[in-house]
Amino acid sequence: MTENVVTENDEVLFDPFAPGFTDDPYPQYRQLREAGPVYQHPLGFWLLTQHAEVSDLLRSGLSVEDRNLGPSPMRDLREQAGIDVDPRAGGLSMLDRDPPDHTRLRSLVSKVFTPRSIAALEPEVTALVDEALDRIAEAGSVDLVEELAFPLPFAVISRMLGMPPVDHVRLRELTAQLVRSLEPVNDPATLAAIAAADAELSAVIADVIAWKRDNEADDLLTALIAAEHDGDVLSDEELVAQVVLLYVAGHETTVNLIAGGVLALLREPDQLALLRERPDLAGAATEELLRYDSPVQLSRRITLEPHTILGHVIPPGSFVIASLASANRDERFWGPDADQVRIDRPDARRHVSFGGGPHHCLGAALARLEARVAFGRLVERFDTLALDGEVEWNGRINLRGPGRLPVSVTA
Ligand code: HEM
Repeated sequence: MTENVVTENDEVLFDPFAPGFTDDPYPQYRQLREAGPVYQHPLGFWLLTQHAEVSDLLRSGLSVEDRNLGPSPMRDLREQAGIDVDPRAGGLSMLDRDPPDHTRLRSLVSKVFTPRSIAALEPEVTALVDEALDRIAEAGSVDLVEELAFPLPFAVISRMLGMPPVDHVRLRELTAQLVRSLEPVNDPATLAAIAAADAELSAVIADVIAWKRDNEADDLLTALIAAEHDGDVLSDEELVAQVVLLYVAGHETTVNLIAGGVLALLREPDQLALLRERPDLAGAATEELLRYDSPVQLSRRITLEPHTILGHVIPPGSFVIASLASANRDERFWGPDADQVRIDRPDARRHVSFGGGPHHCLGAALARLEARVAFGRLVERFDTLALDGEVEWNGRINLRGPGRLPVSVTA
């Protein structure tokens, strides 16, 4: 091992449960990058924080399934919680599967979730944003998460799928529970709550699919039910898992991009002014805001065989965590202004916020569309847009973003 590996006898450099981390994780990530590109935590997992290694890891095709692993702290936790399957890695969604299943699930879903079907949504997305902005204009002072950042992606994915009128409040609670499976979890009670939410949400979606079989329409659910690729179709359980993934990923991530992006602009008034002057920069600004505050901060992989990174041999059965958020601020890659927002940064699109390699985000075009329209229309519509109180973060380590963003506007 070289001096770049911090071993278990050394100081703990990564502590996502430390006070303040979920408000601002970037100082810890900076320290980690300074310590070196590969860090082994005393608990045994590995963490990558620099752009080059994170990009390579995502493209490496390492496993995402942990069912083949031997004893692990997560397994111990599951036993204490009385559940035998990890609600995440036990799932049948493409996010948690390796080839050949990943390849077939992804091709079946990609067949109906196409760039063309997403581009066609622009008028509907614009209308939804404008309706939200009307309500905001009338109120004058609002929580932007509640009035725009959450309802927009929630409405878009619900309409795309063709969800029937269901209890949206309960569904929102369940998805909020379920996304905790993507967070580092360190207590059995949380794990049990996640597993219960997973079971309930899957049951609701199974009912929705049964209803949709008798109520076909021009929507994604109908298309997914009918999807066939080279004679292959989704099994009932696979269908439920892909729909849960699209539904949850469809809004629990984009909310962070819209709210985090607006907050970043509010904190850098010259950049907000630049966007106001040059609304044609809304697409470029979306890339820069994705880079600046990664809506999904971490991605994890599992080694089933020895894996070498910069001469460090990571043994089989290890968790390797890639900090997308840290890679997006790596000064070695982005230069000395990595911690600043520059909406006209020429290479901002090289961020890793949508992951990379075989699991690269399937919804990237949809997220980009929603954010670009939201940022662009906000500055076009309002002469002033200002923070109007304390920002509260959502307390998450991975799907991190503002939980409350009070703003005031004048038209
Ligand atoms: C995968 C980020 C929005 C659907 C991913 C991954 C990331 C990501 C990082 C890869 C995870 C990994 O490799 O471990 C984001 C961000 C979004 C966003 C930052 C918004 C700003 C969406 C939307 C949808 C979506 C709107 C769909 C409606 C998916 C799916 C996968 C995925 C289906 C799994 C792909 C696979 O495993 O092959 N996303 N996502 N995402 N995302 Fe997104």
